Amino acid sequence: MSNNENIVWHEHQVSKQERSKLKKQKPCILWFTGLSGSGKSTIANAVESRLLELQKHTYLLDGDNIRMGLNYGLGFSDEDRVENIRRIGEVAKLFVDSGLIVLSAFISPFQREREMVRKLVKRDEFIEIFIDTPLEVCQSRDPKGLYEKARKGEIPNFTGISSPYEAPDKAEINIKTDKMSLEESVEKIVTYLEKNGYFS
Ligand code: PPS
Repeated sequence: MSNNENIVWHEHQVSKQERSKLKKQKPCILWFTGLSGSGKSTIANAVESRLLELQKHTYLLDGDNIRMGLNYGLGFSDEDRVENIRRIGEVAKLFVDSGLIVLSAFISPFQREREMVRKLVKRDEFIEIFIDTPLEVCQSRDPKGLYEKARKGEIPNFTGISSPYEAPDKAEINIKTDKMSLEESVEKIVTYLEKNGYFS
């Protein structure tokens, strides 16, 4: 779809299937969602390291880093969060097209935008991973001291405090970080990929 009638979609000569066949894997997006401090980045990084050991080709899109470059200037209003996720979804789709296993770690608080990204790719190319850590646990961890600042009113629109987080109701994988170790979490995700044919 285009917003300009003079722009025409080009089919490429080399297909996604040909690119991924070379990499011996089925490309997909591992979409990590969860509150700030829930463990998204930690788990996504550990999964990427494990996939590297398994000789898989990956790319990690991670919250703060993307906001320093591609999404520089976007804030945390509902509108900016929607645009943040829209752009990341489009980038993740391009990487899937290149044959990669993409890991994306963003709060992505709204169900509607997560569903929008799901629909950008084929049905089995989007794997939603809910990092299901209770707010109280995230607040007690507070690795960046942001919850404390938010409670004092120093950060507006802070997820879980003054901005909503809509938990997924049909995530493919659920990770309870208060009940599972990092190793168990990684194992659960890698086993899912193995069992569902992403490594062939
Ligand atoms: S979103 O909602 O998906 O657009 O957010 P995301 O791009 O993942 O960015 C979340 C990180 O930004 C920092 N931060 C905030 N988070 C939530 N609410 C507010 N208001 C806010 N301000 C700054 C915070 O470090 C988040 O990182 P994580 O890794 O999630 O803790």
